[in-house]
Amino acid sequence: MDKTHLVDHITGHRRMRRNRKADWTRRLVQESRLTVDDLIWPIFLVPGSGIVDPIPAMPGVNRMSVDKAVEAVKEAADLGIPAIATFPNIALDLRDQTGSQILEANNLLNQATMAIKKAVANIGIITDVALDPFTDHGHDGILREGEIVNDETVDQVVRAAILQADAGSDIIAPSEMMDGRIGAIRRGLDAAGHQSVGIMSYATKFSSGYYGPYREAISTAGLLKGDKNSYYVSPANGTEAVRDAALDVEEGADMLMVKPGLPYLDICWRLKEAFSLPVFAYQVSGEYTQIKAAGMQGWIDEQRVMMESLLCFKRAGCDGILSYFAVEAARLLARA
Ligand code: PBG
Repeated sequence: MDKTHLVDHITGHRRMRRNRKADWTRRLVQESRLTVDDLIWPIFLVPGSGIVDPIPAMPGVNRMSVDKAVEAVKEAADLGIPAIATFPNIALDLRDQTGSQILEANNLLNQATMAIKKAVANIGIITDVALDPFTDHGHDGILREGEIVNDETVDQVVRAAILQADAGSDIIAPSEMMDGRIGAIRRGLDAAGHQSVGIMSYATKFSSGYYGPYREAISTAGLLKGDKNSYYVSPANGTEAVRDAALDVEEGADMLMVKPGLPYLDICWRLKEAFSLPVFAYQVSGEYTQIKAAGMQGWIDEQRVMMESLLCFKRAGCDGILSYFAVEAARLLARA
C-alpha cells in the first residue's frame, strides 16, 4: 500500500471524483435542472376538423386541426407545460404577396387561440407575427421589387399582433427580424388596451439550414425564393446578435429568444450575461429531426440525448426551451 503512483504527484489532494462518487453526492452538487416549467411546446395547425396529419420530416410531430389541437393542448396543460407556441399551415390559395390573411381576425391562427383559450385554462399561448405562413413567396415580410420592405412590414405586423391579442394571445413573439418591430408592437398593443400582453422577441434569429423540416410542416419550402440573409443574422456573427438583442431590450421586449438552439449556446450565454431578462432557446425542427432520425436508426439513445440536449440549454443560462420534444420530455419528467 505504500506504493507511490505517478498520479499522486500530479493531483496531490485535489480529486474531482470525490463529488462524483455516489448518486447522493452527484445529486447534491448538480448545478442545472430541467423541469416541466422550462418547456414551451410549438404546434402546427391545419384547417378542417378531425385532422392529425404526420409531418414526414419530423417523425412524431403532427399538423392538427383546431379541435385536435385543443385536445393535445389540454394534455400538455395536464402535464404541467406552461405554454405553447402556434404555427399555422395556411391554405395555399389564401397566401399572397403581402400575407394579407394575417390581417383576418378569424384566420386559422386566431381561431386556434380562441378555441384553446376557451377550453384550456392553465396554459399560455405564444403567437408569431411573421408573415411567412401567409405569403405566397415564403418570406417573413412584404416583398416589393425583390426586396423585403422593412417599415411597411412592421406596420402590418403591428396590426396582426393586435388581432392576435384580441383573440386571446398572451405573448406576441415576432420572428420576422424587421428593424424597429418590438417598439412598434409595444406601442400598438398598449394603444389597443393590451398592456398585459407580453413580447418575446426572437431577438437573435440566425439564417439557418436547421429550419428545413419546419418549412415542410407549414408548406413554405416549395414557395421560398432566395434566402433570408437580408433580415436574419449570419451564423458567423455573435457580437452583431448581441447588439440586435440590445435594441429589442431598449424597445421593450419582456423576454428574449435565441434560434436555433444547440449550435448557438454561446449566444444564449452572452444574452443572459448581458441583459436582466428571461432568455429562451428554440430547439428548432432540424435539431429535433437530427435526434429523432439517429434515434430511429438505433445510432443514439434518443431519450437520453433528448433530455441531455434540453438540460444543456439550462446550463447555458436559458430560462426555458421551445421544443418539439416538450410533451415527451414532460412525460418522462413526470415519471421520474
Ligand atoms: C419564420 C419561422 C422559422 C421557424 C419558425 N418561424 C424559420 C424559417 O422558416 O425561416 C423555424 C422553426 C423551426 O425550424 O422549428 N418566421
